[in-house]
Amino acid sequence: MKGIVLAGGSGSRLYPLTNIVCKQLLPVYDKPMISYPMSILMLMNIKDILIISTPEDTPRIESFFGDGRQLGLNLSYKVQEKPNGIAQAFVLGEEFIGDDSVALILGDNIFYLGNQIDVMRKEANELKDGAMIFGYHVVDPQRFGVIEYDKEFNVISIEEKPAVPKSNYAAVGLYFYDNNVVKYAKGLKPSKRGEYEITDLNVEYLKSGKLKAMPLKRGTAWLDAGTPESLLQSSNFIGMVEQRQGLKIACLEEIAYRRKFINKEQMLEIINSIKDGVDYKKYLMRVVEE
Ligand code: TTP
Repeated sequence: MKGIVLAGGSGSRLYPLTNIVCKQLLPVYDKPMISYPMSILMLMNIKDILIISTPEDTPRIESFFGDGRQLGLNLSYKVQEKPNGIAQAFVLGEEFIGDDSVALILGDNIFYLGNQIDVMRKEANELKDGAMIFGYHVVDPQRFGVIEYDKEFNVISIEEKPAVPKSNYAAVGLYFYDNNVVKYAKGLKPSKRGEYEITDLNVEYLKSGKLKAMPLKRGTAWLDAGTPESLLQSSNFIGMVEQRQGLKIACLEEIAYRRKFINKEQMLEIINSIKDGVDYKKYLMRVVEE
């Protein structure tokens, strides 16, 4: 399975923070927002990753991650000229996806998944046919895309911001698709608001009875850092857990090392490239010395 991080958009709800830089490069506690969705793909063992962003921000993100080789990744980049909708990722990503299945994660979605990530990794690696979306139990489902599913986790309906929600499960910004996704995405028409909608894409899978849902468990967290309040909440959440545990969330070097994308020598090379005395360096040293 390959991975796409969709990190463009207009970020208008974070204006004026997003005047000169996209929201995915804004800090969430101690690292740029985009590190969090990147970490989820890496934790699922996905190394081939396409990052899609705006004409202005794609070069900025590229200068942050480079070709990904230092993390044992194979990164590529693609510009989305205008924020024409989330489903456009698969049209822009056609060549990158090739004959593979693909996971899409939104660049402003932050997940803290505990050991449910192990189940997700298995699903990601085994998905050959159909699609899987993920639901998070929320108190105010009417604000989200709401997933209704049966006992076998087959999706029965997905409704955008329904007045009377059929469940408490909000669709989060993570999706697994088989290779048909490119064909379906190319066949989509823009919605009333002029966007290629991810929901329309999911409905294509739903119509053929091939859309599964996985509810995220209790004890997990899903945050969408797209508003000033949720950006602050995200920083507070990450900061609180990291300070308490002394373990970092979404430290990409640590994940690359622990998942054996890179060896000790490569990890030491990264460490040596960081200035002495920097806390992040000390943290990576501790990981290696463990
Ligand atoms: P949204 O938060 O729905 O939209 P936005 O980022 O444009 O923000 P705002 O509503 O405040 O103007 O987007 C969700 C994620 O998907 C986010 O990471 C941006 C990304 N995105 C794109 O990259 N291209 C797009 O065309 C759209 C709609 C979103």
